[in-house]
Amino acid sequence: MLIQTRHDGFLHPVPSEITSRHIYQDRRDLIKLMASGTAGAVLASWASRSGLAQSDSPRAGKLAPLQSVRSSLPGAVTMEKLTAYKDASSYNNYYEFGTDKSDPAQNAHSLRSSPWTVEVEGLIKKPARYALEDLLKLSVQEERVYRLRCVEGWSMVIPWVGYSLSELIRKVEPLGSAKYVEFVTLADPKAMPFVGSRVLDWPYVEGLRMDEAMHPLTLLGFGMYGEVLPNQNGAPVRLVVPWKYGFKSSKSIVKIRFTEKQPGTAWNKAAANEYGFFSNVNPGVDHPRWSQATERRIGEDGLLTRKRKTLMFNGYEAQVGQLYAGMDLKKNF
Ligand code: MTE
Repeated sequence: MLIQTRHDGFLHPVPSEITSRHIYQDRRDLIKLMASGTAGAVLASWASRSGLAQSDSPRAGKLAPLQSVRSSLPGAVTMEKLTAYKDASSYNNYYEFGTDKSDPAQNAHSLRSSPWTVEVEGLIKKPARYALEDLLKLSVQEERVYRLRCVEGWSMVIPWVGYSLSELIRKVEPLGSAKYVEFVTLADPKAMPFVGSRVLDWPYVEGLRMDEAMHPLTLLGFGMYGEVLPNQNGAPVRLVVPWKYGFKSSKSIVKIRFTEKQPGTAWNKAAANEYGFFSNVNPGVDHPRWSQATERRIGEDGLLTRKRKTLMFNGYEAQVGQLYAGMDLKKNF
């Protein structure tokens, strides 16, 4: 049974500084122009409009805007076509709200993403309970365009907004004994119709090895497409780990815990032979029930559209390959 509640769960507070979606779109267009070498002529007009938008420009988007700077991190920019916002926010996996791809967009309005706190605990010197507002301000929000490759064989290209998880990790000063980071997400049966179902062991928990969590590409995400996250995409704060299958990117995080032992994770507990702890995107290691060699890019669904070849580490091998040097990735899948 689905619980229907008020529709206002889509809006939650954000920092006061804002960038509207049209400015954001302009910025993306500018990136394209820069690539084609014709940016100079439009730069001035873009800059002035962008200045205006900081304060009082009308917004085109539905959700609150989230100001960001474009990331200069290697791997955080791609010239690939962005997935349409409509697709990225209506074709989702968020099992707390149902198992069909359309369920989260339909049901997640019952998620109350404000007020929100994230507890940071375990093997650290400075355990703390962060209000979302403080977490948002902890570092500069960057826009990073990442590919998200789902274990089911589809992918998207999404402009996320957030900052490296490592910024938060440094603040809380992990002890030498901290080897893993566990991410616990909200499990509220009142707001989430599928919590209590036997599909997964709730709450949805994920984990990373410490060096993975510290890698600059690992993003603590608060927004996408220049706005705060829609509920179905994991509002108000989620992880985005671009070189791993999408299920490692836990949504609506309420607790971050530093541990010595490898945490038990939701999909690994459900089917250990199918979903390993590492879950690095790897076209050479098939899922027991299907190949992982190719993928379908959401939005390219014509009858004659050819599948894309899946890239090792989802195309981030240059950035993250070293983390796994010497490891047997067939065993540690
Ligand atoms: N986080 C929670 N809490 N619950 C979930 O069911 N699904 C995961 C991940 N994070 C999931 C989750 C899976 S399987 C994927 S592919 C991605 O979220 C999907 O993210 P998206 O809907 O923003 O594309």
